[in-house]
Amino acid sequence: MEDQLSSQNGFLQTLKRNRWPLLLTFLTTFAIVLFFYFFYDYATDIGPEQPIPFSHQVHVGVKKIQCEFCHPYVGYSNHPGLPPVEKCLYCHKYIIANHPWIQEEHRYFNTKTPTPWQGVYYLPEHVLFNHQRHIRKEIACQQCHGVVETMHRLKSHRFKMGFCVDCHREKKANLDCWLACHS
Ligand code: HEC
Ligand code: HEC
Ligand code: HEC
Ligand code: HEC
Repeated sequence: MEDQLSSQNGFLQTLKRNRWPLLLTFLTTFAIVLFFYFFYDYATDIGPEQPIPFSHQVHVGVKKIQCEFCHPYVGYSNHPGLPPVEKCLYCHKYIIANHPWIQEEHRYFNTKTPTPWQGVYYLPEHVLFNHQRHIRKEIACQQCHGVVETMHRLKSHRFKMGFCVDCHREKKANLDCWLACHS
């Protein structure tokens, strides 16, 4: 009994003596955990590396080129696709023509290789979506794609059903859509 008490006391004494280093260790651990909790996604999800580091921030944000110039079929086609290299060269034959990345564009063009752009927005396989209905209702690209004009590299994004349903509910759009949207 006596022995147990004194060993407990010893333990408390040790804690007391080391309280500052212990507190510091605890706080540091806590800060690291917090950091990862909030920033892990942000730090890891910068989106896939693209064959040419194309920047929406430069082209849309600074140079004010319209989305439709590069994505012209977005209002008509289920698969609007990404711009062919000819479209880039329309400007870059003249603008910063000797830039190494523009040289890379010429290589794709000369070898007739489509630029292997990596897709970044995904829907689950069985969901049907088309832009047309949405664009006709004047829903901004940014509502679904975020403010791409501030991004150098687009982040990967997987749409969740809740995102679609919330807006459909708010705008009184078709909610049985989960019959129509799911093939
Ligand atoms: C209501 C939401 C919504 C709006 C508004 C919207 N998009 Fe999309 N967009 C999507 C979804 C969902 C996908 C993924 C489609 C898929 O994987 O089939 C997509 C895919 C794309 C793609 C890739 C297509 C491909 O063929 O790989 C481009 C480019 C695109 N959107 C451009 C635009 C532009 C430009 C606008 C505005 C004019 C716009 N989007 C407005 C939801 C939206
Ligand atoms: C309507 C004209 C236009 C089109 C089309 C265009 N660009 Fe640009 N691009 C520019 C301008 C303007 C700049 C800025 C040049 C400068 O910094 O002086 C630029 C800069 C760049 C840069 C320089 C690096 C940087 O981020 O500053 C790269 C790389 C680039 N563009 C790639 C592309 C690719 C790839 C395409 C096709 C998908 C494309 N551009 C289409 C006008 C265009
Ligand atoms: C100068 C050409 C250019 C302009 C202008 C432009 N884009 Fe893009 N966009 C690209 C290229 C090239 C890619 C493929 C590389 C990438 O993802 O960065 C792309 C990719 C995308 C994607 C990803 C498609 C996928 O495969 O998942 C979306 C969404 C998109 N753009 C939306 C927009 C919107 C919205 C605007 C206007 C605010 C816009 N773009 C303006 C050239 C352009
Ligand atoms: C910001 C609002 C908004 C978001 C986000 C949105 N939608 Fe819509 N959607 C609408 C509106 C408004 C309509 C009705 C358009 C009309 O009346 O022509 C519509 C119509 C549709 C239709 C046609 C429905 C019918 O009547 O047959 C489909 C399919 C659809 N959306 C699928 C989707 C999917 C899948 C997503 C998620 C990736 C999505 N939508 C995200 C607003 C949105």
